[in-house]
Amino acid sequence: MSENLVIVGLGYVGLPLAQEAVRAGLSVTGFDVSDATVDGLNSGQSHVDDLSDDDVAEMLAGGFRATKDDACLAEADVIVICVPTPLRNDTTPDLGAVEASARSIGGRLTADTLVVLESTTYPGTTDDIVRPILESGSGLTAGTDFALAYSPERIDPGNPQFGLRNTPKVVGGFTEACTSRAVDFYSTVVDDVVPTVGTREAELSKLLENTYRHVNIALVNEMAIFTHDLGIDLWAAIDAAKTKPFGFQAFYPGPGVGGHCIPIDPNYLSYAVRSLGYQFRFVELAQEVSGRMPAYVAARAQGALNEAEKSVKGSSILLLGVTYKANIADERETPSRPVARRLIELGADVSYFDPHAASFDVDGTPLSRADDLGAAMREADLVILLQPHDAILAEGSFADAALVLDTRGVLEGDNVERL
Ligand SMILES: NC(=O)c1ccc[n+]([C@@H]2O[C@H](COP(=O)([O-])OP(=O)(O)OC[C@H]3O[C@@H](n4cnc5c(N)ncnc54)[C@H](O)[C@@H]3O)[C@@H](O)[C@H]2O)c1
Repeated sequence: MSENLVIVGLGYVGLPLAQEAVRAGLSVTGFDVSDATVDGLNSGQSHVDDLSDDDVAEMLAGGFRATKDDACLAEADVIVICVPTPLRNDTTPDLGAVEASARSIGGRLTADTLVVLESTTYPGTTDDIVRPILESGSGLTAGTDFALAYSPERIDPGNPQFGLRNTPKVVGGFTEACTSRAVDFYSTVVDDVVPTVGTREAELSKLLENTYRHVNIALVNEMAIFTHDLGIDLWAAIDAAKTKPFGFQAFYPGPGVGGHCIPIDPNYLSYAVRSLGYQFRFVELAQEVSGRMPAYVAARAQGALNEAEKSVKGSSILLLGVTYKANIADERETPSRPVARRLIELGADVSYFDPHAASFDVDGTPLSRADDLGAAMREADLVILLQPHDAILAEGSFADAALVLDTRGVLEGDNVERL
């Protein structure tokens, strides 16, 4: 008999898991608090980049249903929590959604159920925060009456090569038996499950991966600033370095970091370290270095226009690609927003082109959207490539632009200046 799976939180992480589980033949229900998400999915509409409406139709045909009614939790054999873990305004972790979903589950939990937390969070959350809420809500005991585990999500939105099924899945249980139970469950939906010693190690593994990227991106961002001043092509240097078959992994500079994994998640780890009375300085330094990149891009725009004997004030500047990552529609924490804000403050007439963003606002004011890429590029005093979406690289006639600032190191030409 197939397992009855309930996924709590149907976003970028929960929905691909639901899709893979339906394909694996599980009976899958999605529980979410958002009317728009639940109604949209039940009527066949996807709201995440990696799933099309056809994918949602295939899931519905396979028995998937989304609901706002937590009664489904009482029927579950396995419950996986995929709710957001944002930061509060003071940059401390906001576990409100994790706690709320644990309360919903606690009130409905039945014996022998497996509960897995997938939301990215600091070590200790599963054991110290989720477990007591589940136990007090249900009167059951983790490790004895029900199984509890943590498994970090490694989804890379827009990655055509690695999806949920072929990316190894780390699992750490509250007890060894909990780990085995979680390994058995994930083995039905992913090819390679990697057990680790406990929930804390699984929680830390995700933050280690994110922090590693964060620090290395900040390293090349800082290098971009001084290599420009030294007259060195950093992209050529990276291409040369990455021919080393061991001990080096290439990271590339850009206009700043966006999304959730890099700008937000490492703060969870530095928060946990601060409670020990000292700082996690690598994270804080990386934050500071990459956080300065949007202002640096604006300064470089100013310099490029100056060379052309123009001022930013009164110049028309076209931003190409405003989402946080190439070929996806997600705008969370996108550095394009602070870049646009700074250029507007300096008096530029800023517009944008992005096939993945029907609208784009800066502090509540919509930016003018160019519909005709070719015309917009010819008319702008300066074009800034922020996100190298395939569609922009394929359709953009960069040679027709007066001046191009390429923050991604993908363009060539006499009118192109690289970051
Ligand atoms: N997006 C990514 O690429 C990615 C990658 C790896 C890990 N993560 C982590 O996974 C977690 C989820 O991220 P996401 O990008 O899927 O978020 P998301 O915002 O796309 O989706 C979260 C969903 O949870 C729902 N939700 C919120 N509170 C709820 C509650 N109490 N009960 C039920 N549903 C609730 C929301 O309505 C939303 O639909 C986060 O911790 C994130 O850091 C995200």
